Amino acid sequence: MKDRRRLQPASPDGVSAVPTLLHLSDLHFGKPFLPEVAEAVLTQSRELQPDVVVVSGDLTQRARDEQFRQAARYLERFQAPVAVTPGNHDVPFYRFWERFLAPYRHYRRHISADVNTVTDVAGLVIVALNSSRRLTLTNGRIRRSQLDFASRAFTDAADGTVRIVVTHHHLAPPPDFEGGNVMPFARRALKRFTRLNVDLILAGHMHRSYIGSSLDFFPGELQRRGIVIVQCGTTTSSRGRGRERYRNTFNLVSVDETTIHVVHHAWIAEMSRFLPISEHRFPRDARQYLDDTAEAIRSRADD
Ligand SMILES: [Fe+2]
Ligand SMILES: [Fe+2]
Repeated sequence: MKDRRRLQPASPDGVSAVPTLLHLSDLHFGKPFLPEVAEAVLTQSRELQPDVVVVSGDLTQRARDEQFRQAARYLERFQAPVAVTPGNHDVPFYRFWERFLAPYRHYRRHISADVNTVTDVAGLVIVALNSSRRLTLTNGRIRRSQLDFASRAFTDAADGTVRIVVTHHHLAPPPDFEGGNVMPFARRALKRFTRLNVDLILAGHMHRSYIGSSLDFFPGELQRRGIVIVQCGTTTSSRGRGRERYRNTFNLVSVDETTIHVVHHAWIAEMSRFLPISEHRFPRDARQYLDDTAEAIRSRADD
């Protein structure tokens, strides 16, 4: 697969006992960008030594060439490889001809030639799917062909790898119910990801964090295990919303054989640092139990 990258982890000995991922989102290079906060993210990333950094879209505020140039320079400064996906702000909003004819021109030049990518690092397979569209700019979409792309990527993955999907738009609603319906066809995507045994979905866009399970909002006894969903607020911009108004956040995620562990961090201006404010543990063994239960219910219904 042309857009598949197999990378060496960034940890000093080249092998991480537990693969670790730093999840950032909504950088918004341009007017709302906060340089001091962005520098702190870099410093803390060096301390945390993740195997990979994931940025779930909205690198820029207005999709300008110069904003992408600055974003690219910033991402190059991380020691770990970076997996990235475009957001709706990375498509020109006012420059109509560019929006219709070459919406990802600057993104492709500075950030990544491909807008759907696979990153294979430290036992993690990260499939980043571009959910932004030039017509439906704010809600986002994932096409069937992109679900097929994810399916091929995970089929090619080695046994035991951790399967992660990244989109910009949110598949879980915002936790405070303020606006922002989930991406249309979210249920279709989640069903497919469940069949593909995806462990984790990372997203952004709402500028508010959510950490939970797809079963929280698409329940039903015939559902199988659900998928852990981690949505990040804005990491480096002044555009936080709702309970994260003027707040910045990132997530540190580690996955071992038994547990997905998410440490949610928020910017504390008085200390010029991000500090952990909540921790979330999801036992991976629970998936088997929930799958078996759903199967048993299904076969009883068939009798
Ligand atoms: Fe954003
Ligand atoms: Fe967005």
